[in-house]
Amino acid sequence: MTIPLLELTADGLANSARRIMARCNELARISSLRGGVERVYLSPEHARANRLAAEWMRDVGLTTHQDAAGNQVGRISGRDPEAPALMLGSHLDTVPDAGRFDGILGVLMAIEVVRLLRSRIPTFPFCLEVVAFSDEEGTRFGKALLGSAAVAGSWDPAWWELTDAYGITVRQAFLEFGLDPSRVGEAARRPDELVGYLEAHIEQGPQLDRAGQPLAVVSSIASARRFQITIRGEARHAGGTPYDMRHDALLGASEIAIAVERLCLAEHHLIGTVGQLNAYPGAVNVVPGEARLSLDLRGELEGTRDRVWAALTRELDQIAGRRGLRWEAREVHTASAMVCEPLLMDVMRAGIEGSGQTDPISLFSPAGHDGMAIGRIADIGMLFLRNPDGISHHPDEYVSTEDIAVGLRAFAEAIVHLARE
Ligand code: GLV
Ligand code: MN
Ligand code: MN
Ligand code: MN
Repeated sequence: MTIPLLELTADGLANSARRIMARCNELARISSLRGGVERVYLSPEHARANRLAAEWMRDVGLTTHQDAAGNQVGRISGRDPEAPALMLGSHLDTVPDAGRFDGILGVLMAIEVVRLLRSRIPTFPFCLEVVAFSDEEGTRFGKALLGSAAVAGSWDPAWWELTDAYGITVRQAFLEFGLDPSRVGEAARRPDELVGYLEAHIEQGPQLDRAGQPLAVVSSIASARRFQITIRGEARHAGGTPYDMRHDALLGASEIAIAVERLCLAEHHLIGTVGQLNAYPGAVNVVPGEARLSLDLRGELEGTRDRVWAALTRELDQIAGRRGLRWEAREVHTASAMVCEPLLMDVMRAGIEGSGQTDPISLFSPAGHDGMAIGRIADIGMLFLRNPDGISHHPDEYVSTEDIAVGLRAFAEAIVHLARE
């Protein structure tokens, strides 16, 4: 059976893009943060977002279920209902005080693309699945990609004891959400069940905007490591303690935050961030006796990332020695770099060209994505959509309805190209 070429009208695409934009706004209202967007793993908001996404999935003909790790899944058969599936997706969880599009856009584009392709899917040599991953950001438990790791069958039993800011463990949160921890393995998919994984995502930097192009093919996703570092000194009276008697943990932490920037700037495609820094006991009139900081390190090459972490531990030793402090670090997240599969990059490129954009650029993604986990069981490919100003993980994150329409066409064309391979 030959697969018909796509005939998508500009009006139809514009309607779809407007629907996606309206749904991004609707999902943004499912939030634990008054006046902003925040939706974390295994929260009541996660459950509500899944229910809404499931309704939208069913509306385009997908059969839905929530998997054993809280991911919302929809499936539609191709020519052979037993054939492996092309998985499409992204995530519905957010960072604190997030934008409306990171992850969400990719889930909604996947659903919409099923609507656009629906009449052709029965001719496809694969089934289509849409997955709304439950935890990409790691906002609640510090460890990112919990939802997609479960799907990749790489759930680590040590994660059950991770805690959130209130001391609730992942295990307790599963139970409160209505999931059975002993069944998390049922979320795992086998490589032979999948033909690949495709994800559309807003770019989280300015490269497309600078290039004046709406869409890019992603070449690879950065490797990452995240640490919680604790520095201990001595809490003392802020007035009575002369400088030569102080062991100020916050000053030690500040020095290391500056060192992160200096060491990363000296490298190519490596970036580090201290996004959390707390001083204890946290009083205006007490020299900080303890400081806790997070470190997020991402690099195209794992070797560079690891070399910089090793250099930072030496700096920590020096700073601690000089200031009379002690330090320890706990690694809370590690992810390998993930390279996009050349054939899936080609179909994405063909899709972009089919949308009318010539000579699309390829971008390396310093931001993390579910494909980092899914890449362990399936080939992955990604499409980036322009983000004017490059702002993400912030309420001002934005993508235009026009670019969503172009992106949808490219995404749909890419899937048809793959089906015709
Ligand atoms: C999440 O978006 C991440 O890249 O850390
Ligand atoms: Mn994000
Ligand atoms: Mn994301
Ligand atoms: Mn990310």
